[in-house]
Amino acid sequence: VPPERIRNFSIIAHIDHGKSTLADRLLQATGTVASRDMKQQFLDNMDIERERGITIKLQAARMLYRAKDGLDYILNLIDTPGHVDFSYEVSRSLMACEGALLVVDASQGIEAQTLANVYLALENNLEIIPVFNKIDLPGAEPERVMREVEEVIGLDCSGGILASAKAGIGIDEILESIVATVPPPSADAHKKPLRALIFDSYYDPYKGVVVLFRVMEGELRPGDKVRFMNSEAEFDTDEVGVLMPKHKPVDVLSAGEVGYLFASIKSVEDARVGDTITLAKRRAEKPLPGYQKAKPMVFAGLFPVSADDFNDLKVALEKFKLNDAALSFEAESSSAMGFGFRCGFLGMLHMDVVQERLEREYNLELITTAPSVVYRVTPTKGEPYMLDNPSQLPDPTLRKCIEEPYVKLDIITPEEYVGPLMELAVSRRGEFKDMRYLVQGRTTLVYEMPLAEMVGNFFDALKSRSKGYASMEYDWIGYRESDLVRLDINVAGDPLDALTCIVHRDKAYSVGKEYVKKLKEIIPRANFQIVIQAVIGTKSIASERISALRKDVTAKCYGGDISRKKKLLKKQAEGKKRMKAVGKVEVPSSAFLAIVNIN
Ligand code: GTP
Repeated sequence: VPPERIRNFSIIAHIDHGKSTLADRLLQATGTVASRDMKQQFLDNMDIERERGITIKLQAARMLYRAKDGLDYILNLIDTPGHVDFSYEVSRSLMACEGALLVVDASQGIEAQTLANVYLALENNLEIIPVFNKIDLPGAEPERVMREVEEVIGLDCSGGILASAKAGIGIDEILESIVATVPPPSADAHKKPLRALIFDSYYDPYKGVVVLFRVMEGELRPGDKVRFMNSEAEFDTDEVGVLMPKHKPVDVLSAGEVGYLFASIKSVEDARVGDTITLAKRRAEKPLPGYQKAKPMVFAGLFPVSADDFNDLKVALEKFKLNDAALSFEAESSSAMGFGFRCGFLGMLHMDVVQERLEREYNLELITTAPSVVYRVTPTKGEPYMLDNPSQLPDPTLRKCIEEPYVKLDIITPEEYVGPLMELAVSRRGEFKDMRYLVQGRTTLVYEMPLAEMVGNFFDALKSRSKGYASMEYDWIGYRESDLVRLDINVAGDPLDALTCIVHRDKAYSVGKEYVKKLKEIIPRANFQIVIQAVIGTKSIASERISALRKDVTAKCYGGDISRKKKLLKKQAEGKKRMKAVGKVEVPSSAFLAIVNIN
């Protein structure tokens, strides 16, 4: 097929606006996947994704479509992940396209990720086709939402399509519009040296790493020795093919096409998203622009509930890493928790997913310590360095300053929740930057906020204060100095290092108080009095006492709110009752779980 009959596009949308459902429909309508083979949401092929209804890893599919003009076209759909933790991957996959379907739920309207994704698409000069989805819903107001898109994004919606991915309305119009509106890839690029952009790579136990890419220039054949320009690794290609969405080998992939290769690559680290593939023999001069190495932003300790599982956890993390270049880990030992790993994640969702998959796929029971961001510490002597483990923060006399990462936060909310959300932002040390009327009844709030205040439960708090209606997006803006202190928790005089955290001085008191209160509820009584303290340096800022055991003590109830109590009971039922001996005191593992969410 000549390049002028290729269309490379992706679908961008806010979460839940129907991206996966629409992708399924397009695959069905083009006969790429027969209806009876259609598992719900073919593109989201990981279990966790399906259960949580979120797209994490992107994938691609090639569709053959006979258009109304009677000609056959190749439509390459490149899926994008829907979550901010993966925005770099979104930008890479958009760079592999010439156009994008912008899916907006016609019963909702523009949300934070709609905007973020549209801006990424516009930066990549994509042709955008607005699709107003879910018009089958009684509450759909496509005209209003269309006006919103025109007003807020400045996008001409005259070519917009009213659709229902669920009911199969508008699907043919969408396919025709892709053919008519999305520009074909440039036609003369195949003579140049190979440059192909990796937009996804994943580990397959049989084939090694499978690399998904878009050929921007040149040609690639099976047997070619390829070179990854940023990692500088070279491999002999075993197979080159297209995604139907199952693998189908081909003899050549030329400029404009989307495909896969495998070449006995052992780890995705050698073939990272965003890297440029060229030929070892005929190298391109420069890689494609914009390559970044995924940088972990959030760190936490992962400890096996049973110390015997340490080696299994190590093996599991090593295997996991083959498939996840963004995950980092190194062994860590804690006096409270024993041996485990300090792991780095792209963000909170990434952390949840990794932890859940380790537990599920490798049958491990894990305890995760409170997540922490990466601080920049300038010592009194020597160069600034990055610190991801709060228990390693040096004494104030040994440091000049600590800086913490900041983000710019964009919230979109119905105006009645502006008040509660502003309160929330202030309580998280947010600095107000802007408030704009977006469209009738809805407002954008802009804050600059320490990333540390967003890890933890910020997103849940945002949702609960807006009855689920607010949406958010954030962007990293750099490091700023803050008045931060290290808060240690001592139990019977021994530090619980897994609970050490770095907090803003103004919050140290309330966080410390909460910690000791929670611990008091959870630590069982002993035959001596136990003192629990929150300390900064040598100064105790909060403390609680657990009195010595008396004879008549029967089963002790937990205090705390119902949901936490239920959660703890559940964890116990799962056999997570192992005690961590801290000095003289037995601290149940659940204590750590209970405290992870305080910040
Ligand atoms: P993420 O994968 O989380 O980014 O979401 P998504 O944008 O892929 O949304 P998805 O396709 O999973 O759809 C979200 C929900 O909306 C699902 O429950 C769908 O069944 C439903 N849905 C999708 N399209 C339509 C539609 O046209 N009409 C109606 N009524 N529901 C739809």
